[in-house]
Amino acid sequence: MSPTDSESEPELSSETLKILQQVMQAQQEQQERFEQLRQQAQDRFDEAQKSNKDLSLITMDLFREDWQLSQFWYDENTSEQLAREVLENSDKDSLVCCISSPTAYVKLMSMKPLTQRNNFLFEYDTRFDVYGRQFIHYDYSHPLEFRLAEELKSSVDFIVVDPPFLSEECLTKTMETVRFLLKEGGKVLLSTGAVMAPIAKKDGLLMTTFYPGHQNGLSNDFRCYLNYASERFPFKKDQK
Ligand SMILES: C[S@@+](CC[C@H](N)C(=O)[O-])C[C@H]1O[C@@H](n2cnc3c(N)ncnc32)[C@H](O)[C@@H]1O
Repeated sequence: MSPTDSESEPELSSETLKILQQVMQAQQEQQERFEQLRQQAQDRFDEAQKSNKDLSLITMDLFREDWQLSQFWYDENTSEQLAREVLENSDKDSLVCCISSPTAYVKLMSMKPLTQRNNFLFEYDTRFDVYGRQFIHYDYSHPLEFRLAEELKSSVDFIVVDPPFLSEECLTKTMETVRFLLKEGGKVLLSTGAVMAPIAKKDGLLMTTFYPGHQNGLSNDFRCYLNYASERFPFKKDQK
C-alpha cells in the first residue's frame, strides 16, 4: 500500500452516496417547510398584534414632519382643541374621518373616544398605516378613489380636514371627497389659509375666530372654518 493510498479519503459507494444525497435533500425540504410555517405563524401574530394593539398609545413623536409632503404639524393646544371639538360633537355610533390632518387624529385616538374603532385617518403618508384598517391611503388628486369608499359613502358624521396645499385645485378636490363621505347634516371642520375663505364658503364653511397654531410656526394666515355653530370656535362676525 502506498503512503498516498493510506492518506486518501475513504470512498463511498455510488449507492451509499445516492442514499446520503436523498437524506440531505429530505432534510433541506423539511427545513424549508418549517421556515414557511414559521413565517406564516409570524404573519398571523403580526396581524393579531395590529388589530389588537392599543391605538391610544400612538403619539406624534413617531412621525417627524416631512416638508416634501407639506407636513406642518399642529401645536399641542391646537390638536387638543380640535380633538375635543370632535369628542363633543360625536357619540358612540358616530363615524369620524380626519383627512390629511394626522395630528388631530392621533390626539383624538389618544383620548380613547367611544368611536375609537369608527375613526378613520385619510392620509397620503403610509407611516400612518400603524392604525391598520383605520388608515385609509388617500391622494387628493384622486378624490373618490380609496379603500372602503362604498361603505363610507354619505355616512360620516364628522370630518376634520386640512388639505396639503394652499391652492384652489387642492381644496376643490379635497372638498369633493368631503361631500362624498358626509352624511346629511354631518359636520365639517376645515383648517386652511384665510385666502381660501371664498372657496370654503361654497360648501357652507364659514371662518371662525380660532387660529390653528403649528409646532414650527407658519407664516401663512391659517384659519378654522365650520359648517355649523360651535361654542368652542365661534364664527367670525360680519362675514359677507
Ligand atoms: C398641511 S398638512 C396638514 C397637517 C396638519 N396640520 C396636522 O398637523 O395634522 C397636510 C397633510 O396632507 C398630507 N398630504 C401630502 N400629500 C398629500 C396628497 N397628495 N393627498 C392627500 N394628503 C396629502 C400630508 O402628509 C399632511 O399630513
